[in-house]
Amino acid sequence: MDFLKPRLLPMNRRRTIYEGKGKILYEGPEPGTLIQRFKDDATAFNAKKHEIIEGKGVLNNRISEYLFQNLNDIGVPTHFIRRLNMREQLIREVEIIPLEVVVRNIAAGSLATRLGIEEGTQLPRSIIEFYYKNDALNDPLVSEEHITAFGWAAPQEIDDIMALAIRVNDFLTGLFLGVGIRLVDFKIECGRLWEGETMRIVVADEISPDSCRLWDTKSNDKMDKDRFRRDMGGLIEAYTEVARRLGVMQEGETARAGAPKLVK
Ligand code: TMP
Repeated sequence: MDFLKPRLLPMNRRRTIYEGKGKILYEGPEPGTLIQRFKDDATAFNAKKHEIIEGKGVLNNRISEYLFQNLNDIGVPTHFIRRLNMREQLIREVEIIPLEVVVRNIAAGSLATRLGIEEGTQLPRSIIEFYYKNDALNDPLVSEEHITAFGWAAPQEIDDIMALAIRVNDFLTGLFLGVGIRLVDFKIECGRLWEGETMRIVVADEISPDSCRLWDTKSNDKMDKDRFRRDMGGLIEAYTEVARRLGVMQEGETARAGAPKLVK
């Protein structure tokens, strides 16, 4: 019954739905699905800083697959269906809500700067923030008032998003702690998934070291995109270590084609 399986079109015949800074979305093999491809592009400060970091897309694809599959398994709804290959995954098509939902456990980054809190300070409780996804405006911080007044999401949807964000935070915090990593903060995006007449909010986009702050519990070493933002180097090594600790890369496997393999 092989002929019944949806076929993936060759790359050059696929329809591009959207191309962002780090990923491309193609039309999927069936209605309601898309293919999400992870690029090697690293950008920061609204793409004012841009580099190609060979192998980053492969690592983010694997790490994001692992985290989304685990979320699916514990009943947190996501857009993720399955990984297709080194750089691509099959996802459900959703209507992206134009918000970056940031959850913070420890002060860092823009929160530390904006409120003058020393980076590394444990927050009194987890804090959820919303940023309006708009490159021309540099993704400004917005309140629930802005979100509902301008119709980006309804009050009930904001409640659903916050409940999802808290579940993701609780789960990821424990998962990472188990492998010696502190989840300092992270960003998720949410989408509306339509199933006939009903709609539910699901976690979309990606969860990877590009969208999280991950600090080694012992050394406090940064294992995330701050290595790129702050010109620290060693990004691939750090992402590979995250993948290795999560058990998603085989021992000796590398994300760079042709890179020397570790022989054990
Ligand atoms: P921030 O401290 O720069 O506001 O970042 C908070 C979290 O959100 C951090 O884990 C990195 C992530 N993030 C993104 O995923 N995309 C972005 O464009 C920005 C600014 C932050």
